Amino acid sequence: MKVYSIVIFIYLHYFWRVEAHYTAAVIEFFPVQDRHLPAEEKLHRNINGYVTILDELSHTTKLDIIVYPEATLTANSLFKTHADVSAYSIEVNVNETSLCDTPVTTFLTPLACAAVKYQTYIALNLYERAPCTKNEETKCSEDGWSFYNTNIVFNRKGVIVSKYRKYNLFGEIYMTRPKKADISIFRTDFNETFAMFICFDILFRQPSLDLVNKYHVKSILYSSMWFSELPFLTALQTQQQWAYATDVTFLASGANNRKVGSGGTGIYHGMDGPLLFTIVGSSKSKGLVAKIPGTHGQGPKDTNTIDKKGKEMDEFHLLSDHLEPYASKLILPNGKEIVDKVCSGEGTEFCCHFKVELEWEEELMNEDKDQYQYHMVAFSGVRSFAGVSNGGVEICAIVACVNESLSSCGKRFPNYNNISWRANFKKIVINAEFDIDDNKFQFPNSLLSNIEPINVDALEWTSVMNNKRIRRTYKLKKPQNRLMTFGIYGRDFNRDSSIHNPLRQIFYL
Ligand SMILES: *[C@@H]1O[C@H](CO)[C@@H](O)[C@H](O)[C@H]1NC(C)=O
Ligand SMILES: *[C@@H]1O[C@H](CO)[C@@H](O)[C@H](O)[C@H]1NC(C)=O
Ligand SMILES: *[C@@H]1O[C@H](CO)[C@@H](O)[C@H](O)[C@H]1NC(C)=O
Ligand SMILES: *[C@@H]1O[C@H](CO)[C@@H](O)[C@H](O)[C@H]1NC(C)=O
Repeated sequence: MKVYSIVIFIYLHYFWRVEAHYTAAVIEFFPVQDRHLPAEEKLHRNINGYVTILDELSHTTKLDIIVYPEATLTANSLFKTHADVSAYSIEVNVNETSLCDTPVTTFLTPLACAAVKYQTYIALNLYERAPCTKNEETKCSEDGWSFYNTNIVFNRKGVIVSKYRKYNLFGEIYMTRPKKADISIFRTDFNETFAMFICFDILFRQPSLDLVNKYHVKSILYSSMWFSELPFLTALQTQQQWAYATDVTFLASGANNRKVGSGGTGIYHGMDGPLLFTIVGSSKSKGLVAKIPGTHGQGPKDTNTIDKKGKEMDEFHLLSDHLEPYASKLILPNGKEIVDKVCSGEGTEFCCHFKVELEWEEELMNEDKDQYQYHMVAFSGVRSFAGVSNGGVEICAIVACVNESLSSCGKRFPNYNNISWRANFKKIVINAEFDIDDNKFQFPNSLLSNIEPINVDALEWTSVMNNKRIRRTYKLKKPQNRLMTFGIYGRDFNRDSSIHNPLRQIFYL
């Protein structure tokens, strides 16, 4: 009898871990753009947009959780003073009250009631306000408020069950950075434990990597308004590398606005790769729904499919990183097998080892079309994130460049249809050694010409530890002839620093 119940216990335990599943939606949302709308009207219209999408998705699927992006209730509002934010903000607390069932209604009421009506958890981002006093908080407004870029989660009753205040602000001069990073872990009635972080947080240790490494969270809700940057940090590339390296289920929703390079939404199942993702190249909203765990909707794509999306992305604004300080070697259009190393470093030398097998398409060599040049690059140093903060990086990669100069790596030819793809990478192996340090982390980074990462079944990411070092090896196992980036993207948080008065005002946030 005893043995019998142990068997049942093990069976149930196994059953829950493996079979318990839920249905999640992530939303790429294109918010109302009119800069001159009164705050109340803007909030009302965007909330309406949120509810409409939830309603449409619910016609065909019963959702358990839906995630909305960052800043899409308030996007494109002009904040000239602290007080301007006030009208867009609201006090929110984790307590027992259903916001669908209070005498006072706010702009959140329709969404809280949608959680009840559609019986789903809802994660969303808003401007939170909290009372403050001038001597405690430098960013306290004249009328006594401080503001936070905050995610909240409604449960199926419209009760706020979790709250997370963005820790790594991207400029956002009217927002307050919490003194400590919130650890926003909560458990749902479908027995999944989630935590949240927001946008720029993905590039830092706290709280994002700590949630996984210290708190063992296996599922993340992520809201963002990302500004995609070539060659390493376009939206889906960044999401996939994070979900893959941490082996976490990652539900990511991105604000859409191709003019500023915002977009990128997906559901990633750790090292199994994305179940679904999209970066909408036009200005519109789109919902993605998946059962988790589930089967991949995102197999390898054929060249025609990649090219169709690649062309669409001509209209999408992309920032570019500055690779001038990188060490590099050009891949010459005669090499078929390359074994080489590239070293860089401030203080200690940092070396990247490359093994590349590639084929050059003879008949394309003399075509009068644009052709990317490939550099093998190495960099250990500090970069600026759009003038809002500085970050340490350790990078080994092969990157596509418009010409031979390093300043052209991270640029894209303007007319996709006028590119001839003559280099077919059969195999790439990159390896490098990094210090084992809680303040360092490495990601497997990749990008194709359609601004999507490489399908995970073409990738292999392994590591070996010896003494105080970890040797990372990143392998491309399947041929790619639309390659933009393939490399190890390492962060070194020890070398991070903030810029106190960022000159650049990020208006759209
Ligand atoms: C719960 O928090 C809300 C704001 O999010 C507030 O309006 C309400 O009064 C609070 N309820 C209790 C019981 O504290
Ligand atoms: C979640 O787990 C609890 C026990 O921890 C159990 O009572 C409940 O039925 C489970 N719910 C689902 C949806 O699996
Ligand atoms: C295509 O690329 C070639 C080579 O860079 C250039 O000379 C030509 O003008 C381009 N044509 C178009 C239509 O962009
Ligand atoms: C290479 O491309 C960059 C960026 O597009 C451009 O500024 C530069 O003039 C080009 N250099 C050469 C030698 O063509």
